[in-house]
This record gives sequence, C-alpha cells and structure tokens, in this order.
Amino acid sequence: MTLDPSAFDQLFIDARTHNAWLDQPVSDDALRQLYDLVRMGPTSANCSPARLVFLRTPEAKAKLKPCLSSGNLEKTMSAPVTVIVAYDKAFYEKLPELFPHADARSWFTSSPAFAEQTALRNSSMQAAYLIMAARALGLDCGPMSGFNAALLDEVFFSGSTWASNLLINLGHGNPEKLYERLPRLSFDDACQLL
Ligand SMILES: Cc1cc2nc3c(=O)[nH]c(=O)nc-3n(C[C@H](O)[C@H](O)[C@H](O)COP(=O)(O)O)c2cc1C
Repeated sequence: MTLDPSAFDQLFIDARTHNAWLDQPVSDDALRQLYDLVRMGPTSANCSPARLVFLRTPEAKAKLKPCLSSGNLEKTMSAPVTVIVAYDKAFYEKLPELFPHADARSWFTSSPAFAEQTALRNSSMQAAYLIMAARALGLDCGPMSGFNAALLDEVFFSGSTWASNLLINLGHGNPEKLYERLPRLSFDDACQLL
C-alpha cells in the first residue's frame, strides 16, 4: 500500500528547509510524539546512538548562541525549538539491553574507530528520521552543520560521553520567507542500475 499522494507532498515534494518561523509554539507533548517516531527508525544492531537535547527556553538558547555561525544566528535564536542531535560515544553500553541476543558491546569496545563511525553514521540516520517525522507531524525543520562543535560540546556535554553531530531548528516555517528551491540531481546523474 502506498501513501496518499498528499503525504508525499507533505514529506518530500512540498517540504522545504525553513529559515524563518511563524509565532506558533511547539509543545513538549509534540516533542515526545516526535521522539516516539524517531526511535522506531532502524540503526545498526539497534544501537540507537542519537541523543536529543531540545532547547526551548531563552536560557537554553543563550547557551547555544556563542556556538552558532553568524549565518545561523538569527533563525536559530528565533526558532521555537532547536534540537541538538548528539550521539553517545559510549552508546555500546546500552547494547546488552538493545541487542540482547549477541555480545554486540564487544564489537565496539575492541575498536574505538568502528564505534565512532557507527555512532556518527547511525545518529545521522536518526537525524534524518527526525526531519521526516517532524514533517509527518506538521512541523518544519531547518538542519544546520554551521556551528562550533568543540565549543558546543564544552558548553553542553562537558564531563559526559555525548558529542554533537548537527542542529535542527523546529517550528512552523514562514512560507513567505523561503528561498527558491534548488535543483536536485537526476536519476542518471546520481544512480546506477547494475
Ligand atoms: C546536514 C545539513 C546541514 C545543513 N547546514 C546548514 C547550515 O549550517 N546553514 C544553513 O543555512 N543551511 C544548512 N542546511 C540547509 C540546506 O542548505 C538545505 O536543506 C538544502 O539546500 C535543501 O533545501 P530545501 O529543503 O529547501 O530544498 C543544512 C542541511 C543539512 C541536511
């Protein structure tokens, strides 16, 4: 069964990256609903390395402010919510619970490089699930990699095993403030049929 055509529009075709926000709040209940969808997306060995910090208050935004690149400052400070999509470098400690039928923890404790690659790959996947889940719930997103990750990690995650991957602004986007849609690669440019 495929989705109703309007669902494709909402998730992909009409959905845009937003830089300006309407004055409409995002409730904590909506954030919990969002996470309940995000967590169901697949990750390798069910490792679920993403950790999400929802910045909603002026105090939380003020902590983030010095970490932002100048181009990302205004839209982030005015967004109803900014999510720090982080990952737990020690994500494998949860594997006895998340993947109980194998000794998956030892795959990662024996190779820090493999653990780091797995955490980054899968938390990036989970960030993508978050964008699509938000769109499904009628929210708009503005993902960002333009920030000082070392500073952010010091400000928010000092003394913990969490590290930042990317930021995502969340809210109801102002459709009047969108840039023109950029082109995408054609099937022939981006895909191979072997
Ligand atoms: C991982 C990621 C990082 C991004 N970083 C930034 C950023 O730092 N600043 C910014 O203005 N836009 C950023 N973008 C937004 C992209 O430029 C935008 O999603 C892309 O051009 C597609 O726009 P559209 O969804 O409106 O078609 C980022 C997007 C992604 C997915």
